[in-house]
Amino acid sequence: MSETSFFSIAYDLIIKNTEITYDLYVNASSVDKKQKFIRVFPMDDFLSQEDLEEFKQKYRQLYVREDQRNLYMDSLVKSSDISGVDTVSFIKDSAVEYLQKMFDDTKEFNTEILSQTIGECRFAVESMIDVLDDYTIDSLRGLIGNLSSHDFYTFDHSINVSMYCISILRALKPEATRDELVHIGLGGLLHDLGKVKIPTNILNSPGGLSEDQYAEIKKHPGYGIDLLRSGEVEVADDLDLNIIARVVHEHHENWDGNGYPSKLREKEIHLYARVCTIADFFDAVTTKRSYNDVLSITQAIGIMEKFSGIKLDPALFKVFASHVKHGNIKSGRQIKMSDSFDPAIPYDKLPLEEIKDLFEKEDFGKIKIKES
Ligand SMILES: [Fe+2]
Ligand SMILES: [Fe+2]
Repeated sequence: MSETSFFSIAYDLIIKNTEITYDLYVNASSVDKKQKFIRVFPMDDFLSQEDLEEFKQKYRQLYVREDQRNLYMDSLVKSSDISGVDTVSFIKDSAVEYLQKMFDDTKEFNTEILSQTIGECRFAVESMIDVLDDYTIDSLRGLIGNLSSHDFYTFDHSINVSMYCISILRALKPEATRDELVHIGLGGLLHDLGKVKIPTNILNSPGGLSEDQYAEIKKHPGYGIDLLRSGEVEVADDLDLNIIARVVHEHHENWDGNGYPSKLREKEIHLYARVCTIADFFDAVTTKRSYNDVLSITQAIGIMEKFSGIKLDPALFKVFASHVKHGNIKSGRQIKMSDSFDPAIPYDKLPLEEIKDLFEKEDFGKIKIKES
């Protein structure tokens, strides 16, 4: 067996006065950078406030075994003492941990890693479904803004898209089953899976892409489905890999048939993929980028509206927009997005154009006399 790994947990994110469902460890090594983990509290024992205070006095940091991460995550989700932000933050960090394994350049990517990652991602999605029950699409956007961001855009983005997918499906279909939410959540989390096959310098080149580079990026839905359909990916019996594969393959198809890679149109595109397109677009325009302002919800919805019926399913967009609060339109600044916008492009600055005052040149104050 490979060596056991651990992750640190914050003291205020330990549920007390209950039987804990995971073991607690400390690092007893006195040598810097060396680790020697010793269990200080066993799972299923009652952890009191006093126990925790004592640990706090004695140990700087407590740890949990990596293979008990889902048990720990579950305890946060079920606790009413821990805030939603803290819980979602932990779920997000965990999902990043899982996804990172797939994008690890030092290890060769294989279907075994993919099977394992899908299994782990499922824990994250199941936890998200429980926590997000208390959030609307609008409050979720606020929550996402409060979460820590990681260096690699793709991870944060995938997790945000997964959360939006779950919330949008719930808005669309309040009676959506857990099974449906798990599938759309996993589809969202893995939608850009094919990017593992695209060189990092292309994925991280916000300065602009050459035609060849853009053509390469456009291959990610195809790469993604090839990986999932390689025949060796093993998932739990109750998971339909085909649905996840369709989200991965069809999330850049457009409602009007002008998307990629297969130019599918309207309802030829899987419903979950159409939801994912909206989530993908929304996250791409509301995510903070360096040197660039974040759009307000009103601006984001305004921009997306122009693509409704073109890139986006108009009926889905209508439901989505009606669930996102339209704040007061404070700014007079009117913007529109370039038609060439593609959420798959790593923009440093969104291709926005300011809409000039249409009547700028008109002089309403004077009566114009037509010169003859
Ligand atoms: Fe994509
Ligand atoms: Fe994406």
